[in-house]
Amino acid sequence: MTWTEELATSENRHVQQMLRDTGRMPRHVAIIMDGNGRWAQERGRPRIDGHREGMESVRAVVKTSSQLGIKYLTLYAFSIENWKRPLPEVRFLMSLLESYLRKEVDELHANGVRIRTIGKTNALPKSVQRVLKESIDRTAENEGLTLTLALSYGARWDILRAVQVLAMDVRRGKVSPEDLTEETISDYLQTSFMPDPDLIIRTSGEIRLSNFLLWEAAYAELYVTEDLWPDFRSPDLYRALTDYVMRERRFGKISAQVRSDHSATTMSTLERILNALT
Ligand code: IPE
Ligand code: IPE
Ligand code: MG
Repeated sequence: MTWTEELATSENRHVQQMLRDTGRMPRHVAIIMDGNGRWAQERGRPRIDGHREGMESVRAVVKTSSQLGIKYLTLYAFSIENWKRPLPEVRFLMSLLESYLRKEVDELHANGVRIRTIGKTNALPKSVQRVLKESIDRTAENEGLTLTLALSYGARWDILRAVQVLAMDVRRGKVSPEDLTEETISDYLQTSFMPDPDLIIRTSGEIRLSNFLLWEAAYAELYVTEDLWPDFRSPDLYRALTDYVMRERRFGKISAQVRSDHSATTMSTLERILNALT
């Protein structure tokens, strides 16, 4: 059974329909999945148990995002700074990633998910690089959700890399400095294939970006929840999305310039969404 078929009989279908009916769903949701270690520590268990449980949240969030028709989901899975963690934890995270891809790629593929990555992926172990490449190639033609895994990723790393390539193109006469625009910068970043994130969710209550999508996040709505990542499941995603669709994105303008006329119906819909969740 595909995820869409599953949804038809699921109690989630009402809340998903209500969210879609607002006509304000984000195209791109990016998540800083934080708090695995604390989740495990709270239970007196080793940190890796938190990472393992966090994978269940990944499964849930990917499936729900796909059902909701979200086009881009970007998950911050391993930062370039995370290499500084104790080696056993890094090794465990790498093996978890490999086993996630091996186990899930069939189901992801069957549901039209396209897998991509951003980050310094050549720093990953060869076996991980291999399974990543297989998953990316296999799902390359899919047109459903684009699931981007940020692996060994750092926004400053990507900006620096982009500037280096751009500088070389200037030297070769391919680009002239006078013609540079904001779009040029976006095009040189690894994220060039995706729209800027509309919503960035961070779990575990930390209010920072930790070197995630710095250029791209210029106008993203930020949503921070106290929930630790292993506790973040579909209802929590609905809550974040409800919060998002209720916001007014002004992009520097004033409220009267951006206010849409569907506010009354939207508000009553949103009330129903919130009631359905609590
Ligand atoms: C997020 O959880 C997972 C990764 C960064 C890989 P953490 O491992 O950072 O968990 P905390 O923040 O220590 O609780
Ligand atoms: C951010 O979490 C990176 C990922 C979620 C992969 P961290 O736990 O590494 O962030 P800091 O160091 O607390 O900011
Ligand atoms: Mg953390």
